[in-house]
Amino acid sequence: MEKLGEQASRLVLVLYPFQGHINPMLQLATIFHSKGYSITIVHPEFNSPNPSNHPQFTFISIPDRLLESKVSLSPGDFMSLVLALNKNCAAPLKQCLKRILDEMHPYERIAGIVYDALMYFAQTVADDLGLPGISMRPTAAAMLLFAVIPHPDQAMSENPTDAMSEVRAAALNATKRSSAMIANTMDFLEEAALSKIKEYSPAPIFTIGPFHKLAPSNSSSLLKEDAYCISWLDKQAPKSVIYVSFGSMASLSKQDIVEIAWGLANSEQPFLWVIRPGLVLGSEGTELLPESFQEKVGERGCIVKWAPQREVLAHDAVGGFWTHCGWNSTLESVSEGVAMLCKPCFGDQFLNMRYICYVWKIGLELDNELERGKIEGAIKRLMVDIEGVEIRNKAMDLKKKAEICLREGGTSYSSSNEFTKRIL
Ligand code: UDX
Repeated sequence: MEKLGEQASRLVLVLYPFQGHINPMLQLATIFHSKGYSITIVHPEFNSPNPSNHPQFTFISIPDRLLESKVSLSPGDFMSLVLALNKNCAAPLKQCLKRILDEMHPYERIAGIVYDALMYFAQTVADDLGLPGISMRPTAAAMLLFAVIPHPDQAMSENPTDAMSEVRAAALNATKRSSAMIANTMDFLEEAALSKIKEYSPAPIFTIGPFHKLAPSNSSSLLKEDAYCISWLDKQAPKSVIYVSFGSMASLSKQDIVEIAWGLANSEQPFLWVIRPGLVLGSEGTELLPESFQEKVGERGCIVKWAPQREVLAHDAVGGFWTHCGWNSTLESVSEGVAMLCKPCFGDQFLNMRYICYVWKIGLELDNELERGKIEGAIKRLMVDIEGVEIRNKAMDLKKKAEICLREGGTSYSSSNEFTKRIL
């Protein structure tokens, strides 16, 4: 990978404090660091990342006053959280940047403020200080169509609330003023969406995904990863395991958990299932699993609270991924050639599911209510039936294309170098 020259350049990255956003931002920081930039991560107090996992970066916490603002911290109410963060963090970020500028060595400079697209206030702060603002998009580039084109086709099933419309309008405004956008995607995955965005967007877009593959980064999990599941995977046959995880925010009902349990048990496939705290509101989740389920499954199933997901998906024993279609999970699965069973829960996950099942054709949609018979059937279709063989082959083809993207001369590789040149 190309590196900077002797010049000491610092990039300041502004985090949106949820797992699905922290991961790509810290991965992007690792890419920039490998190119020679010094990195400062500015983050709200809520859901602070663990600095000891990234000793090469400087972490600065800014007050978010979320408790004072009486905002619900539940991900379900996340638009009011976005609005509160944008209101409360602007002045602290400005102070923090002024301090950095004051204390910097004369030969150092801030090359840009890279902010999560949901932390759009950072663009205003960057404008005020005469610094370039760069918007980081942790979702599919197609989601940008909502920001850069006034009336895109609605690809998702929800009607926008007032808070959502306010966030979209403010994010659009910031995007228009930004010096560049960085998207965690690969050109070949989203050709149509990207050419439309380039037509409409005033800011250049750099597609340098999947971030986690361009430069190896340490884990940025907020929850402790359970390493036991890797030793359990080591004992399973190649491509036999279905990995089940619904990301960091989605929630399920108690009934859903019971249906999933019996669907997995009756499928006869080995499974690794993440039941994270908060997946089922008002319950730990695991106490809902009937004793008869545990008896039937025995050593064939492994249940953990949080898994080292990238390592899991790269493991030879994993043959399929039942996912909620979060964008990070989608890219991590594509990078390892793992076919998916898709059950989107909210927001961009519906759009991602359409890409996976109907555009790239590397997954099956699990629609309607979760019911044990349908789950069992879908797992068998993906993992055992002839239909699944074709889908799994396509997933492997996509993995190869992704590898080409990341190699010297590939689109993501070149785009990351182009970004460095442009920002200098
Ligand atoms: C949310 C949205 O759903 C997603 O589409 C958006 O782009 C970012 O915000 P989330 O629901 O958490 O994110 O899903 P996802 O994007 O898949 O991110 C989850 C991350 O947590 C992934 O990087 C995954 O590797 C990690 N993870 C998940 C673990 O490390 N261990 C687990 O057990 C589960």
